Amino acid sequence: MSDAPAQPGLYDAMSTLRAVRKLRPDPIPDDVLERVLQAACWAPTGGNTQPWRVIVATDPDVKQGLADIYAPEWAKYVGGFMKMMEGLPPEQLAPWERVAAAGDYLADHLHEAPAILVFCANPKMMAITDAKLDRVSVVGGGSIYPAVQNAMLACVAEGLGCTLTTLHCLREDEVKTLLGIPDGWATAALVPIGYPVGNGHGPITRQPPAQLAYRNTFGTAWS
Ligand SMILES: Cc1cc2nc3c(=O)[nH]c(=O)nc-3n(C[C@H](O)[C@H](O)[C@H](O)COP(=O)(O)O)c2cc1C
Repeated sequence: MSDAPAQPGLYDAMSTLRAVRKLRPDPIPDDVLERVLQAACWAPTGGNTQPWRVIVATDPDVKQGLADIYAPEWAKYVGGFMKMMEGLPPEQLAPWERVAAAGDYLADHLHEAPAILVFCANPKMMAITDAKLDRVSVVGGGSIYPAVQNAMLACVAEGLGCTLTTLHCLREDEVKTLLGIPDGWATAALVPIGYPVGNGHGPITRQPPAQLAYRNTFGTAWS
């Protein structure tokens, strides 16, 4: 009999992958990190070019540098967000206040996360089929975010909490200098991971297929 905790099935992992923003500082063993990174490497990418890299930040100074960049951007973001929510009745406001408080905690404690995964992407290595359209391009992200999601699903399997964050992109130049990211590379996600303070991953609130899926033509009810 193995002593390893039972791992959730794939559907369990997908349906409990919520943002876990309160992380313990306890270190993550390298073999666990290696499995999380391997999961990222299994993700599909356009033309199988794997145009992404991930930096695993574990050094206290590097993590502090990332926290110093992230925290003020979170403060600005959450300030604006909560202003938008002003006037909501208390029962509708309460969940947002909980998210804001958890986000404040993450911003205040980011440097204590045992590992911060910084996903980088190189657009020159991608065939971005919507690059010339008169709208914001999204296809390039398809060669990076599946890797991020795979890593996060692996975190669920390993009992690790995590949250996909992107606010650092607002100050990407500083992040690149801090981490020595070369010209031509962008940053796509900053994912703090660690063993959770509380229950960790759990129930999520998402719209169902009846709201998001259509049959044959846009807007035609799926079911
Ligand atoms: C593209 C993207 C960017 C995000 N950026 C941040 C971020 O900068 N900071 C943060 O605390 N959460 C961030 N999140 C987490 C979302 O806020 C979270 O997944 C969403 O509110 C749903 O919450 P839940 O996963 O706990 O159900 C981001 C998620 C995505 C997919």
